[in-house]
Amino acid sequence: MTQGIVAAYFKEHYGRHPIMVKAPGRINIIGEHTDYNLGYVLPASIEKSIYFAIQKNNTKSLQIEAFLSQPEKITLSVDGTPGKFESPWGNYFQAIWGILLERKYPVQGLDCVFGGDIPIGFGLSSSAALCCGFTYAVSVTFNLNIPRSEIALIAQAAEHRIGLNCGLMDQYAVLFGKKSHALFLDCQDLSFEYIPIKLKGYQWILINSNVKHELAVDSEYNLRRKSCEAVLDRLKERNKNITSLRAASLEDLKSIEGTISKIDYRRAFHVIQENDRVLKMAKALKEGDAIGVGTLLWEGHSSLSTDYDVSTKELDFLVNIAVQQLGVIGSRMMGGGFGGCTINLIKKELAAKAIKEIITAYKAKTGITAIHYPVQIGNSLELLST
Ligand code: GLA
Repeated sequence: MTQGIVAAYFKEHYGRHPIMVKAPGRINIIGEHTDYNLGYVLPASIEKSIYFAIQKNNTKSLQIEAFLSQPEKITLSVDGTPGKFESPWGNYFQAIWGILLERKYPVQGLDCVFGGDIPIGFGLSSSAALCCGFTYAVSVTFNLNIPRSEIALIAQAAEHRIGLNCGLMDQYAVLFGKKSHALFLDCQDLSFEYIPIKLKGYQWILINSNVKHELAVDSEYNLRRKSCEAVLDRLKERNKNITSLRAASLEDLKSIEGTISKIDYRRAFHVIQENDRVLKMAKALKEGDAIGVGTLLWEGHSSLSTDYDVSTKELDFLVNIAVQQLGVIGSRMMGGGFGGCTINLIKKELAAKAIKEIITAYKAKTGITAIHYPVQIGNSLELLST
């Protein structure tokens, strides 16, 4: 539907046929804050997507128009001179363009309209979809043939430029996801394997706390990363073979306990255990062990809330209410944290009732209306026919 609207709008306003690109959002089954520690993650691309209509315009400028709830059009110069705009999304386009110029890609003027149905700022990686989707769309428009692995790095560099020192989980999920599967990604060598996540009789449901996260702005995310790096520096002093927290064991961490801050200790404690949870989760999914999957979700949440301290009172409440519902066998906050969604595994026949109870209790406690989305795992970023 959105695809059709974006394409029609482009044709109407720019008078020609666009190239159409679809870039999906992502969920994450488990493995939070492990990616930048070169560990494992288990995300999946979802049907909710951003659609781009794009075409060269043979001018010296880029006209980019958002077809979102608040429409806005910005103009950027092909030579990378910083543009003036209100909307935060403009920064992503500007950053991507600057990086493409620095890497000497022969890019020229273009018109682009984009819009979609990924809720923005709720932990479903709308910004990774925006950055990967735009880079891919530019690559197709000018026949640049940028490999997907390179698009991931360009998109990550754009996030870093804007201020979020993220890992590569989101970009890989957007670029390499596969329908009905999770992407079991090793962030050390970026190799991956697809794992079916269908569990017979169960349904994955997202519940959006409707509290937005602003990871870059509040910079708590970057502070977590700094904590991990501080611990790693200490570990390296003892054992130079430990080149990331992924390579560290709990015993290694214990051995330096007295030499690092209590907070840093808890951060690393989460990362080391979370990494192990991803391996256990991959096994439980392969074996169709729903109870095992659910248990890992609860454990993951508790660790993110208590040790990594990236949950919010709203997310904690959603998870605590979910525990009490018949049929919910696992629930945890999902993504970078500080707002966004919980991911829940619920018995199919009990799902409607459980969701209703959770949303009602949440409204009574916080005054906020939570929204739920059944998870639909879709394919990765793709070129669409017009
Ligand atoms: C954000 C970042 C990712 C990852 C997650 C937490 O989504 O963009 O790189 O670190 O948070 O797992």
